[in-house]
Amino acid sequence: MYLDSLSLCVDAGKCTACGACVMECVNHVLEQNPETGRPQVANGGEARCIHCAHCMMACPAGALSIDNLKQEAFSADVPPANYKSVLELVKRRRSVRHYLQKNVERAVLDELLTDMRYTPTGVNFGKLHFTVIDDIEVMNKFRYDFYSAFRKRTAGGSNLLTEALAWSEAFFEHDDDPVFRTAPHLIVASHANGAFCGHDDCVIALSYFELLANAHGLGTVWFGRLMTIFARFMPELVEALKIPDGYKPGYAMLFGYPDTNFHSCVERAIPEVDRPKEIIVPE
Ligand SMILES: Cc1cc2nc3c(=O)[nH]c(=O)nc-3n(C[C@H](O)[C@H](O)[C@H](O)COP(=O)(O)O)c2cc1C
Repeated sequence: MYLDSLSLCVDAGKCTACGACVMECVNHVLEQNPETGRPQVANGGEARCIHCAHCMMACPAGALSIDNLKQEAFSADVPPANYKSVLELVKRRRSVRHYLQKNVERAVLDELLTDMRYTPTGVNFGKLHFTVIDDIEVMNKFRYDFYSAFRKRTAGGSNLLTEALAWSEAFFEHDDDPVFRTAPHLIVASHANGAFCGHDDCVIALSYFELLANAHGLGTVWFGRLMTIFARFMPELVEALKIPDGYKPGYAMLFGYPDTNFHSCVERAIPEVDRPKEIIVPE
């Protein structure tokens, strides 16, 4: 799924022929012109380009662009995150299963969704698609209709759906929401069918979304149940959610303002770590 064309633009007035772009390019797409020292596409380089745009970002003079992309400056007024503050964000993140019944402000949501463009993807030009339920009214109808369909499908007795959600059913009587966790919003990350790393890209994108959302004071919970429902019980839901043709849901997450306060986190066991000193590579 590589792009078959590469457009390279070098501003001769700005380029200092330092070679940083050529040095950064892992696939030897670029080479320095022997006379000017400025970058040019090497023989066969176009086909090797993975369009990561590192050449642009490594250029200290802002002299280079590919694919008509523009350089974006780092925020001058925001210091780079420090370890302790990022760790605190990670430690304070919880799976939120009780939400305030109100919409997240449009501006906050738009900011989060726009910033999803910075998440790493295995294929730089394999776009992800996000389906977002941004209105609690829509979410509540979806929730209500899902439970109603669930009851209808399970009325005839036990089936795969009842078995998987059997323990949940008991909670319905208490007006609980064992599937949607009372969340006002849903985000589903989808990838193009057959995309290299598509599923991984979706999970990574939502991991970033989760932390950024938490930094905005929102709560999130990974929505594995929806993935099970898609995969095994109600595949029609993919179409009902208007996930575009040619795309496959990679993962889903519920979110909104939390209605739970966590006053501490728990001390988790330190993960086991191996540090092999020698690896005998099997021939
Ligand atoms: C891949 C994945 C899928 C999950 N799916 C659900 C889900 O469908 N419903 C739910 O309530 N929690 C779900 N969770 C949340 C986990 O149950 C949760 O991480 C665990 O209870 C620990 O809580 P914590 O995230 O607050 O540390 C999921 C978590 C992950 C990582």
